[in-house]
Amino acid sequence: MDKLVINGGKKLGGEISVHGAKNSVLPILASTLLIKGESVIHNVPSLTDVDASVRILEYLGAKVKRDGDVLTVNAAEITKNSIPEDMMREMRSSIIFLGSLLSRTKEAYICYPGGCDIGVRPIDLHISSLKKLGAVITENGNCLYCKAPSFHSAKIILTFPSVGATENIIIASVLSRGKTTIINAAREPEISDLAAFLNSCGARIFGAGEGTVEIEGVENLYPCEHTIISDRIEAATYMSAAALNAEELTVKNVKIQHLSPILPVFAEMGCRLRYDNGVMKVSSPKRLKRVRYIKTMPYPGFPTDCQAIVMAALTKSYGTSVINESIFEGRFKHISELNRFGADITVNDGSAIINGVKSLYGANVYCTDLRGGAAMVIAALAAEGKSTVRDIYHIDRGYEKIEENLALAGADIKRISDEKEETDTAKEKS
Ligand code: UD1
Repeated sequence: MDKLVINGGKKLGGEISVHGAKNSVLPILASTLLIKGESVIHNVPSLTDVDASVRILEYLGAKVKRDGDVLTVNAAEITKNSIPEDMMREMRSSIIFLGSLLSRTKEAYICYPGGCDIGVRPIDLHISSLKKLGAVITENGNCLYCKAPSFHSAKIILTFPSVGATENIIIASVLSRGKTTIINAAREPEISDLAAFLNSCGARIFGAGEGTVEIEGVENLYPCEHTIISDRIEAATYMSAAALNAEELTVKNVKIQHLSPILPVFAEMGCRLRYDNGVMKVSSPKRLKRVRYIKTMPYPGFPTDCQAIVMAALTKSYGTSVINESIFEGRFKHISELNRFGADITVNDGSAIINGVKSLYGANVYCTDLRGGAAMVIAALAAEGKSTVRDIYHIDRGYEKIEENLALAGADIKRISDEKEETDTAKEKS
């Protein structure tokens, strides 16, 4: 397994470019199953979660080609209607395949999804919503047998604006009979991107990105091309790295509208942000200021996906910051790892209390999940001495070439595979 070795204390500078959004490309790839032809998707990041989606599509019979950041999916022929458990367990967003597979094959057999270990991640909203659209779903141990000869219209009121459930309803409804309305839909930019893709293919989705989404079913979708929006969480990650480790860093391919929930936090930390035409320049003070209170919320609130990475930046701030996590109850596992660097963070009743310290020190740490892993890298860049970050397969799920990007910006960071290390040690001994 690979690990990152980071010699901290180097100032970052120069430019880092943001890739296409992981959370957009995954549902869009799943929805290509609805199109009996070739979908051409641009700006696709190279991530293990994308590879996992491609494996599922190919298993189901789609032909997938990759040329740089362009992915072509031809789903003219779909030959299977079940997804093996090991493929489902590779990532949580595999549940997005339920709506699309069921719409395409009318019958599907899938198992419960996997994904980051950030607490209980039920799929009850996905299941109850698809049932409202006419699916008959029977549980069989860890797997689900689902039948939907045809989806019909429904008014679905979500008790929580779940991103994945909203996406599954949209995907399942575009080829249904009649008009489906989602009340309390998730409003994340990735929902709008999914709708933009499907609408280019002929779907009739209205209000995506707002709390009420209407989907008028159409008979057919036709092939189209689409460019994935830039990844707001990757942008926020590099901005957090800059806040802690750079006098000035330029982050390119940024969509400022999508960052509006986090910009006030960077301002409160004392960062100066200058934005022009997709380029964000982050200038940081010598020592960041504390942020009085952050609460993670559904979009347009502060994203739970930015909680760990901003926490890493705050470890060395002046004063005490509080972050309340309201989306995933298990999303504080990175705290004990951050404390290994010498950070002073405690948890009280769903809130992390971060007492800023003057210095962090090199440490051996583990990635506990995707964003928690990114937090380890940010802290290691600021720590005095050498750090080793292990279990970076979590990071590879959501960041394309994180070490190359950061090295180009001046970080002393290397990826080392255990295999190579063993070979090197054997050579030294012989
Ligand atoms: C998506 C994002 C993830 C982000 C999360 C919240 C993708 C691929 N992943 O995940 O990066 O952290 O949104 O912004 O887009 N819930 C239920 N029942 C359900 C579904 C969800 O109780 O059926 C709960 C979850 O346990 C969680 C909350 O709703 O507490 C948010 O989950 P949801 O919005 O569905 O997140 P995901 O779509 O899994």
